[in-house]
Amino acid sequence: MPVTIVVGAQWGDEGKGKIVDYLAQQADVVVRFNGGNNAGHTIKNAIGKFALHLMPAGVFNPDTVCVIERGVVIHLPSLITEMDELAACGVSAKNLAISPFAHLVMPWHLAEEQMQSNKGQEAIGTTLRGIGPCYQDKASRRHAFRVCDLLSRTKFLNKLEAVFLAKKEDLRKRYGKSPIEPFEKIRKDYLVARDRILPHVADTFQLICGAASDKKHILLEGAQGTLLDVDYGSYPYVTSSNATAMGACMLTGVAPRDVTRIIGVAKAYVTRVGNGPFPTEIKGRLNEKLRKLGNEFGATTGRPRRCGWLDLHMLAYAVRVNHLTEIALTKSDILGLLPAIKVCEAYITKDPWDCIDTFGLESVKPDYETYAGWGDLKGCSVRNDLPEEFRRYLSRIEKIVPMNLISTGSGRDEIITA
Ligand code: GDP
Ligand code: IMO
Ligand code: MG
Repeated sequence: MPVTIVVGAQWGDEGKGKIVDYLAQQADVVVRFNGGNNAGHTIKNAIGKFALHLMPAGVFNPDTVCVIERGVVIHLPSLITEMDELAACGVSAKNLAISPFAHLVMPWHLAEEQMQSNKGQEAIGTTLRGIGPCYQDKASRRHAFRVCDLLSRTKFLNKLEAVFLAKKEDLRKRYGKSPIEPFEKIRKDYLVARDRILPHVADTFQLICGAASDKKHILLEGAQGTLLDVDYGSYPYVTSSNATAMGACMLTGVAPRDVTRIIGVAKAYVTRVGNGPFPTEIKGRLNEKLRKLGNEFGATTGRPRRCGWLDLHMLAYAVRVNHLTEIALTKSDILGLLPAIKVCEAYITKDPWDCIDTFGLESVKPDYETYAGWGDLKGCSVRNDLPEEFRRYLSRIEKIVPMNLISTGSGRDEIITA
């Protein structure tokens, strides 16, 4: 029973928040392991509707410990805003534990990414949350801030000023100007943030290891998705962290042998925000129709999401990469509203290299099978209630991977379990 991993099986926004919120009802510990507030995990439950960016989706259960582990990059002002917004709805973050080794997204990371974007260097279409520049500082081991840097007030303020000056100079040299906020403002904001955050800093590695040896139920919550993983995704159109199940173990210290379920959340169709190849992207009006039906606008940036058909080649890749034990399927209630539904069975290509994982995705052509729309799924609460055409579609996916959770709407209880 101990560890369940939940990851995105596509390009993010698959509905991980919904699935983690559902599973977290039985979890003792929920751990966010990667990314930062580039994530937007939407949750609809009896308390309300929320878009979580940094807070683990176990926060709605008063007895669940929520951990932000070392692989996450934290923009402190955003985390505090999130805590305040939750508190205003009666949701307490008292059980939040933060790793001292998590890195901090600092104001210069946001400024740098904005400058890159203004210069047109930034063709990836990032969320502009400073994620890439922060992970860059982490890897370069220069000028990086970690949560543990907050512990000594004096050392923190000295380092803050030194790095501020160095970054200002660096940006000026590279871009001719340096739009970082004034130091006094940063100093003030970060001293306030420090007071709010320090009570949550804990030895999270011990906490997680202890929970695992006590056979507590641990849920590892991924952000982004397999195809956005920096090592396994559609590079360079990816994020800067590891979003896969192997990343979950590495970034939390959980022993792979303790993991019993690895759930890949997949949308019944595929969406993508930002740039990069997308073999099954739907062109024209139908794309807009699906976007409208599914309200496919980013939970973080509000950007319209590109929509496409389910891609079984890619899903099989996600199963291999993450060693998924199962899929949780979302949004088939939306897809079923279309009169005809396509599914990519395989790629057609002359070059065998194009079929190797995420290489050559620009040039492949999908080979489609067509299904008839099955209508909405209102009132379906067990598998036998589901329309026959939809069950045919499920059987096709289950040739690749078992499916134990079928989400039939955005609410916590709109779900069919196997
Ligand atoms: P995440 O980043 O993977 O957590 O996904 P997002 O929250 O960014 O986007 C998923 C969207 O789909 C959110 O608006 C959810 O409320 C919604 N959603 C999740 N599952 C379902 C489902 O089965 N049906 C419908 N209609 N909406 C869903
Ligand atoms: P959740 O957890 C969808 C995308 C961005 C861009 C690329 C790099 O809600 O599924 P970044 O700002 O990370 O450097 O941007 O990754 N991206 C996401 N797309 N869902 C997300 O998170 C994403 N986080 C980043 O749009 O293409
Ligand atoms: Mg999202």
